Amino acid sequence: MIPRRFSDLPEYAFPRLRALLERHPPGGDPLAMSIGEPRHPMPALMHEALTRHAEGYAKYPPIDGTPGFREAVGTWLTRRFALPADTIDPDRMVLPLNGTREGLFMAVMALAGRQKNGQRAAVLIPNPFYQCYAAAALAVGAEPIFVAATEENGWLPDYTSLPEDLLARTVFAFYCSPSNPQGAVASREQLGRIAALAENYDFVIGFDECYSEIYPDGPPPPGGMEAAVAEGVSLDHVLVFNSLSKRSNAPGLRSGFVAGGAGLIAAMTRLRSYAGAPSPLPVLHAAEAMWRDEAHVQANRALYHEKYALADAVMGGLPGYTAPRGGFFLWLDVGDGEAATVRLWCEHGVRVLPGAYLGRGDPRFIDGKNPGTRFIRAALVESPETLRPGLEAIAGLLRSTERKPAEATA
Ligand SMILES: Cc1ncc(COP(=O)(O)O)c(C=O)c1O
Repeated sequence: MIPRRFSDLPEYAFPRLRALLERHPPGGDPLAMSIGEPRHPMPALMHEALTRHAEGYAKYPPIDGTPGFREAVGTWLTRRFALPADTIDPDRMVLPLNGTREGLFMAVMALAGRQKNGQRAAVLIPNPFYQCYAAAALAVGAEPIFVAATEENGWLPDYTSLPEDLLARTVFAFYCSPSNPQGAVASREQLGRIAALAENYDFVIGFDECYSEIYPDGPPPPGGMEAAVAEGVSLDHVLVFNSLSKRSNAPGLRSGFVAGGAGLIAAMTRLRSYAGAPSPLPVLHAAEAMWRDEAHVQANRALYHEKYALADAVMGGLPGYTAPRGGFFLWLDVGDGEAATVRLWCEHGVRVLPGAYLGRGDPRFIDGKNPGTRFIRAALVESPETLRPGLEAIAGLLRSTERKPAEATA
């Protein structure tokens, strides 16, 4: 009865982590660094808008949101990514989502087929990756291609070097910058080359930018839309996804958006009219107020700066540590991610995620190895005081990790 379509998906990362650790008592007060759930305060203007518009819960909301929401997102994108003023027509190029996760999935449902040019369709996925991407590929019967993103390629997948025959059957590509889990940030030129590749090979590029507002001092991470414009590529093959979950510390509000080529947005809107869950009106009003406000985003970023500084102070210079260039995860080479996870839990009560649970072996890349095996992912979401003992425990582990030079980056 149950279709085999998703049988290729392993158990989700968090149940796997529970199964790994449940036999062991914690060796200290439990400290969760495994889940990337923001912990900073939600902006007061969200509460105010939700209350003010609460009567909107009495209505079925429109699938394409409100003109005010679309306009606020269009204005934000234009300002944040310095887009030419006429780049975005909000009514045709912006669609609200219940958080980006469902939108990332539904984009593939709406826009990708099972075949292309007489061959099985392919969906390009950075590896390691946000797990929803793989489910989206399998849902349409396409082949997920897990493109290794390791230290050798700056922790980002290099789609431009993939073979012609693979690109010719690609229907959709996911690209995440700042990336989860590695905290890598692609340059505008890199993003532009990928947008151009999508145009040349006629596939859709979905830029997952939900960590775009969390970054250290310096220029903000560039985005896919500005890169496409700078490269002179039309937005007909480009989608960008963003959300209030990380930017505004409201993961439970379930509010995000997708923006891009009008044809792509029309196709997504059509499918969502049948099968999507529209964002409630009070949520759309609150989201509109939040996209129009930058003060709370700056305050949020300042809190992350304290934690970047703490991580640098505790781990700077240690082998296996790379300071993130965006987002709130540390991606640490500990030799054996599962063994290190068990050790941190048993000796210190520190809960991290084995990198292998976010990656996959793919025979086309790095000899079929899972690029996450040597790593753990640790989230910098708690306060610096809470995090300090966890970071110190991880630093101790990094110091004691034996590294054979040849294996250092595998
Ligand atoms: C890379 C990435 N994309 C998308 C999401 C989905 O976020 P949301 O659905 O809350 O917008 C997450 C959440 O953790 C993520 O890490």
